[in-house]
Amino acid sequence: MAEPKKLYIKTYGCQMNVYDSERMAEALGGQGYVETKTPEDADMILLNTCHIREKAAEKVYSELGRFKPLKEARPDLKIGVAGCVAQAEGEEIIKRQPMVDLVVGPQSYHRLPQMEQAVRSGTRALDTDFPEEDKFEVLKERPKSKRGPTAFLSVQEGCDKFCSFCVVPYTRGAEVSRPAERVLSEARALVEAGVREITLLGQNVNAYHGHEKGLAGLIWELDKMDGLERIRFTTSHPNDMDDALVEAHGTCGKLMPYLHLPVQSGSDRILKAMNRKHTAESYLKLIARIREARPDLHLSGDFIVGFPGETDADFEDTMSILREAGYGTAFSFKYSPRPGTPAAEKTDKMVDPDVASERLYRLQEQISSQQKALQDSMVGREVSVLFEKRGRLDGQLVGKSEYLHAVHAIAPESLIGEIARVQIKESGPNSLGGVLSA
Ligand code: SAH
Ligand code: SF4
Ligand code: F3S
Repeated sequence: MAEPKKLYIKTYGCQMNVYDSERMAEALGGQGYVETKTPEDADMILLNTCHIREKAAEKVYSELGRFKPLKEARPDLKIGVAGCVAQAEGEEIIKRQPMVDLVVGPQSYHRLPQMEQAVRSGTRALDTDFPEEDKFEVLKERPKSKRGPTAFLSVQEGCDKFCSFCVVPYTRGAEVSRPAERVLSEARALVEAGVREITLLGQNVNAYHGHEKGLAGLIWELDKMDGLERIRFTTSHPNDMDDALVEAHGTCGKLMPYLHLPVQSGSDRILKAMNRKHTAESYLKLIARIREARPDLHLSGDFIVGFPGETDADFEDTMSILREAGYGTAFSFKYSPRPGTPAAEKTDKMVDPDVASERLYRLQEQISSQQKALQDSMVGREVSVLFEKRGRLDGQLVGKSEYLHAVHAIAPESLIGEIARVQIKESGPNSLGGVLSA
């Protein structure tokens, strides 16, 4: 038998890219590739890229530069760019980077096997179509090999929201949902492979309509699945949180009490300019309803500071909503103008970069303090932990609580992949420490 070829994939960006990278590796598995962790011994290098902010896109070009000596030493090494930069820049990458052999967008990676054959025969391949056919139908079934206890599962792709700052509607295309029965059969296969917790993914996952009762309908189907213990979903838009989904947070036993629900800003003026179509107040009311259903909900969010036209007063509104909504975690970013988006044209309203940095700093200080307070409040409480792997110390395992906190405890290795009750004893910088409950 021929030596397997080696594939090195590097993934940037969101969880959907993590999922896509797995599927791309599986698609190339059919062409005789196995994954390697080092680019030095790879026959193909694939960068699965993110275009969300300027820095993310720049990283791709600098990373490509790093691979140049490898390509010069071994001209038959093939280099590919996938993901959202591939989608946004397509042809441009081929022109600017002579060493790139292959460019494939997020909606066409099921065509990778044919593209791989083309590049092996010495041509360069570009595919950034939004094809008619559904890539999930073309991709082979997922391998049955044993997996870790947690997995991502993409159920919805694309976005029709067109927030004025965001490239995703352009790189991922229109909202499309996978039919519930396909999602359920993929979930069943994951559970058979050892998965206990599934995170349903979508750029706007709560706009899912592959089940007649929406995302809540899909979650309830998964709730019935033996062997599956935990369900999460990300990322959601506030306007797509329907009543059934709000209610599921209180009634669905497998749905975890953690919700990532970005608000972006606390100022109605800025929210309007962002084309978010919700206000600070409507968001806070929604959070109050979800907390009514699930009082111990751990809320996470995203914020942008320095959006064009943001004043000090607007920023103070963002600081207030951060406190008022009671986030336990949040991600915050300095506004980055993206080519082709409406906000990027507001060049006359750009916020001074030093002012934006200062705001980001203040916001992040406040986020860290809320994060620490919530984590510290877990000390003395008992949580459920799904153990995922060995910890740093001998005999220690690490896993995640229902609130998505990392937790370590001394525990037998047989508990990997199992859920156990843990009494929390200490709160460290990045994780909680505890002991197994008697
Ligand atoms: N679909 C998801 C988020 C996608 S991008 C959602 O709607 O929540 C993840 C986060 O990146 C966004 O929530 C936003 O906070 C941030 N982001 C997107 N575009 C950005 C830009 N141009 N500049 C800075 N941050 C941005
Ligand atoms: Fe981007 Fe807005 Fe769509 Fe999220 S909802 S992906 S921020 S356009
Ligand atoms: Fe980035 Fe594309 Fe995800 S731009 S955040 S990889 S959808």
